[in-house]
Amino acid sequence: MNAESVPLSLSVKSLNHTPIGIFDSGIGGLPIAQKVRELLPSEDIIYVADTAFAPYGEKSEAEILQRAIQVVEFLLSKNVKAIVVACNTATMVAIKTLRERYDVPFIGVEPGVKPAAIHTKTGVIGVLATEKTLSSHAFDALAKRVAGNVQMEIQPSPKLVHLVENLQLDFDQAHKAVREYVEPLMIKGADTIILGCTHFAHLTPVIEQVAGSPVTVISTELAVAKEVQRRLDLEKLLCVATLPAMNRFYTSGDLDLYRKQIAHLWQDVETVGIYQF
Ligand code: DGL
Repeated sequence: MNAESVPLSLSVKSLNHTPIGIFDSGIGGLPIAQKVRELLPSEDIIYVADTAFAPYGEKSEAEILQRAIQVVEFLLSKNVKAIVVACNTATMVAIKTLRERYDVPFIGVEPGVKPAAIHTKTGVIGVLATEKTLSSHAFDALAKRVAGNVQMEIQPSPKLVHLVENLQLDFDQAHKAVREYVEPLMIKGADTIILGCTHFAHLTPVIEQVAGSPVTVISTELAVAKEVQRRLDLEKLLCVATLPAMNRFYTSGDLDLYRKQIAHLWQDVETVGIYQF
């Protein structure tokens, strides 16, 4: 929905005060939501973790699109003014169709191939992502467009999504799986590693420790949050209300686990409501 399609009874002013919707297959989009919260402190946020259907990376494209549609319809029923697809897999597979189908600004997330290609000194970049992202047409097109001059090594990393969902985030719990995925990239000469799955941002310290200091790890949370700000500004949808804004978290999965995840990962748990989707 944009300002033009709002019913007369709902003014542009009140649309500015409606929430931003953010979703992922699970808690992978939380670092993006956190950056949106920091950058736009007046904005209400509704975050959906589609946990009952995670991991998206192991689903068919038709299933991912169907889940994305379900979540988007839920968010639209909550009157959101913009939707952040805080999932590389869903962005690669579904965002084009979502944009064609719904009249609301969509902001997606894609692996940071362009900054990595600019940054690398060895000319070799590595991408950690889901199997589905790495095999998608959209990723292939992105790589051809922006990484034509570098060698790109890809590494599907399914175990990392499971570790994150289970809050196994510290070095002792995660280093074995991280090493399994990071070492092959380094052996091939990668000096720049892209976190091409939003879940992996939760493991940044472990990935950096395993890769060591000559390697730069690239993730996109801040860039996505800035894009959300830019789009809302462009569409004249920024909220100018006073603090505090609210944060509502929904899951299609287990509510007790979700409460634990949010308590562990969200900085300001005082302002949070947690619900079943
Ligand atoms: N967090 C998601 C991504 O950025 C996908 C994880 C999954 O559900 O497989 O691709």
